[in-house]
Amino acid sequence: MTNCNGQVGDEGARPDTLNVFLVLRVGFVAERPSISARPFVVPERGSALHCGKVSLEKLARRYGTPLYVYSADQIVERLKLFQTALAGREHLVCYAVKANSALAILKLLAGHGAGFDIVSGGELERVLAAAPEAAGRVVFSGVGKTVAEIDRALQVDILEFNVESEAELELLAARARKMKRKARFALRVNPDVFANTHPYISTGLREHKFGVDIRRAPAIYKSAAGNRRRNSWIEPHGISVHIGSQIRSAVPFGAAMERVSKLVRQLGREGIVLKSVDAGGGLGIDYHDAEFDAAAKVAEWAAAVEHALGDFEGRLLLEPGRFLVGQAGALVTRVLYVKRNGKKTFVVTDAAMNDLIRPALYQAYHEIVSVRKRAGKGRVVDVVGPVCESGDFFARDRKLAPVAAGDLVALLDAGGYGMAQASNYNTRPRAAEVLVEGAQARLIRRRETIADLLAPESI
Ligand code: LLP
Repeated sequence: MTNCNGQVGDEGARPDTLNVFLVLRVGFVAERPSISARPFVVPERGSALHCGKVSLEKLARRYGTPLYVYSADQIVERLKLFQTALAGREHLVCYAVKANSALAILKLLAGHGAGFDIVSGGELERVLAAAPEAAGRVVFSGVGKTVAEIDRALQVDILEFNVESEAELELLAARARKMKRKARFALRVNPDVFANTHPYISTGLREHKFGVDIRRAPAIYKSAAGNRRRNSWIEPHGISVHIGSQIRSAVPFGAAMERVSKLVRQLGREGIVLKSVDAGGGLGIDYHDAEFDAAAKVAEWAAAVEHALGDFEGRLLLEPGRFLVGQAGALVTRVLYVKRNGKKTFVVTDAAMNDLIRPALYQAYHEIVSVRKRAGKGRVVDVVGPVCESGDFFARDRKLAPVAAGDLVALLDAGGYGMAQASNYNTRPRAAEVLVEGAQARLIRRRETIADLLAPESI
């Protein structure tokens, strides 16, 4: 039923063990000990759940619910894990903007030396708005770049285009020549490596739409290098790979990098010396285990990649998204009703699938905890939102600590692909977002209003 990413069909699987452990230890699921992998803690018995030093109750009172709350400290900590693990090699962590594109988070990461992996002109504008000085640290991935997007990226002189097809390479070369702008490109190769993750977020097999077959790559590089006499605006600069997301083992990353490395050496022998290797993103977190050791995971990943790269002298790029922001964020929501239908109990929250679609889309598991513990026995419930679809659920048949209407609960590990995938389905304004730094909390995105939603329309 489950695969190693803990996503497919895993609702209610492993957490039972965790819940039993916690119930035995503290007699209550919601009152968990300080959680190492997550910044959400109950600082002392009887107090509410906090993000670092800030009470989620206070934040909910001040900004309303549903509310995304992120820990800036954890985001920076996670970035530093990569920077430290790779200290012996020239590298650049290009945060995958798609995971959480809040301007304040982009600015925070840029301030600590990160670059960015973008997949649209919109994401580029976000980076430019948040940290214009980081334009030269941007890599541009994606299978469908438009002329306008390419032109804008050329204009601001991004670091590298991760090119996903020969047709795109031709277009990029033409635009670069027309604009008289240097286009550094990396071919995104498809290494045909199986990554055990949810099928929707696996990308490294030949049957996927991403990248070019690694066997075709030498011919493409050679032709681009040959053409440089006619068009010196295009430069074979690097090579990139991304095999999927929420991958829990380092093994497939190592395997993909071995293949890439072999190709880099082969090209080098033929006089095409690449300056960068982009290992992509994809390192997974543990949505179940509060004791998840992030530092050990990064070390394992770095060892696998290092081993494959060997004596490569260029720069290593990497594109982590979820690993940096996923566990730093929670979605705080208020219970509207607790209702019984036949044998089932439904906890209806004011957040819905439009706020966090991962459970509905990937059968993803998110831990749900009470913000303030309540006495009594837990029970098995479905946690659902107000959207008019049966797929609008956060948990099914989940043993939860007792909750009542008016209570706050937090959906954990929601910092990545939470708000970034939120929509206005059912004409629901998107949630507000708060960033916590030390003891300070600040609103980084106000709640949308109905007027915001209606504004672009005419009758
Ligand atoms: N680089 C490229 C080219 C990507 O396509 C992605 C993610 C990343 C980097 C970052 O991957 P990460 O380190 O975050 O795993 N919505 C899904 C995840 C989709 C991932 C798409 N690509 C989810 O909620 O699980």
